[in-house]
Order: sequence, then C-alpha cells, then structure tokens
Amino acid sequence: QLRAGTIQTVGAIVLDIANPFFTEVARGVEDRLAAEDYTLMLSSSDEDPERESRYLRLFEEHGVQGVMVTPSAGSIDALLAARDRGVDVVLLDATSPFDDISSVAVDDVRGAALAIEHLVALGHRRIAFVNGPLSIRQCADRRAGVLQALLAAGLDPERALVEVTIGSLNADGGEEGIARVLDESDRPTAVFCVNDLAALGVLRGLRARDVAVPAEMAVVGYDDVTFASMLTVPLTSVRQPTHQLGWTAADLLLRQRTEGERFQHQRVQFQPELVVRGSSDPN
Ligand code: RIB
Repeated sequence: QLRAGTIQTVGAIVLDIANPFFTEVARGVEDRLAAEDYTLMLSSSDEDPERESRYLRLFEEHGVQGVMVTPSAGSIDALLAARDRGVDVVLLDATSPFDDISSVAVDDVRGAALAIEHLVALGHRRIAFVNGPLSIRQCADRRAGVLQALLAAGLDPERALVEVTIGSLNADGGEEGIARVLDESDRPTAVFCVNDLAALGVLRGLRARDVAVPAEMAVVGYDDVTFASMLTVPLTSVRQPTHQLGWTAADLLLRQRTEGERFQHQRVQFQPELVVRGSSDPN
C-alpha cells in the first residue's frame, strides 16, 4: 500500500523505446524501482542531443530525483549541467568519462569481435557489416571489434569487409542496407548487423530477393532480444544482459540517492555472449 507523499520519480532517456533492446532495459529499471515506491518517466532521444536536453529539462521541471541516460553524441555537457543542478545522473549503455558519474555498459568491442570470430570460424572470408553512423558510440565500438577480429584472424579488412552505413538502426534501415550489400559485384557470404532490429530488415530483404539463409548468406544480429529466437529462421545474435543492465542502472541511482556522500561511483561493464542459431549455423 502506497503512503501519500512517498512516491518519487526518476527518468530514463534512451535512444529509442521502439527498439526492444531498450524496452527490455526499461523493464529491468522498472523492476528495481518497483520495490521502493519510485515511478519511471521514459523517453526516446532518437540520438538527437537537443531532444535529449529538452527531455532532461522537462524531467527536471517535473521534479525527478534522478535520471538514467543513454547519451547521444555531444550531449554530455547538458548532463553535467543537470548534475550540477543537483539531479543524480547515471549513464546507461555507456561508459562514464567522469569519476563522479556512474555508468552501466556492455563491452561492445568484444561483442562485435565474437560475431566476426564466429563467422570466420565458419569459413566466411567476405563479410558485410550493416552499421549505423560512427557518431553513435555503440556503432563505433562495434566497428572497432569487427576490425580487431578480422586482423586477429589474419584477414585484410580492405578485402574481407563490406561496410554499409544505415541512417536508422531499425528494420527499414536493415532492409535498405542489405539491398546495397546484394548489389556488390563480389557478394559477401555473411552479414553482421549492428542490432537485431536491423537484422530483421536484413532477413526481410534477403527473403524478398530469394537469398537462402544461411546457405547463401549467414546473418548475425546484436542484442538477442526476445524475438530473435522466434523467427522462422532463428537469429544468431550477440546477447546483451538487457534486464540486468537496466536493473543495475536503477540500483546505482537509488543507492547514490540513499548513500549520499558515502556512495562510491562505479563503471559497471557486463560481458556479451554469442548465441548461435539457424541464421548462421549450416547444420
Ligand atoms: O541503439 C543502438 C543500439 O545500442 C541498440 O540496438 C543496442 O544494441 C544498444 O546497445
């Protein structure tokens, strides 16, 4: 039973709440807050720093006690300003550059390397990477992991990698990306996608062009969201501990509030895991 005046609110600003990755993260946040009479305000920045700052201001006007933010490129100054005005800030799906701001992230360089190591072990020597703009931290880190794994396998990225940049990290972006991959004269035999939503569009595009998965094109996604295992061709994906990511961010925020000066800021980093399914497995 709730007591009058005891409900407090925190905010979360993620890149896109329509992406099931962030929905699953938000569920983890909610599960941690539920135990303590906190409610959650949730918004999407669409990777736009101005939209992110506007939500930050609106949240502050609503009197939030703290915010968890997946920062857009260039938004860190607005976050620091909010922190200086007394709003507790925890970075979500990002590694904090500051010792006095906590963060929760997954090792995206390693995650992308796992995907490429898997494809190389299956014998693929020409691999497409459907990625988003490098201004997005996750995209830049995953690209670094792709290059690292190719070089470690003795492959020249100039020859082994076909990079395609999509505008939106969703199914439409993925479909647009795979069309460009299929137009390559020296067509790759595998494609690694920046996230599972993009992989969904890639699978749709491959089906429309009658390209068999995985016989003619292996597909690997990233996130391992719930739908990944439920597709007609179940999707191989790099699993992120989504619920744990959100739960831990909320836990840090609540502890920061209750422990005050005694709170020790942390940069928590989880490890990703490859989940192999039919979209890459020839057997
Ligand atoms: O928003 C881009 C991606 O970043 C998401 O798909 C998820 O992978 C996150 O880390």
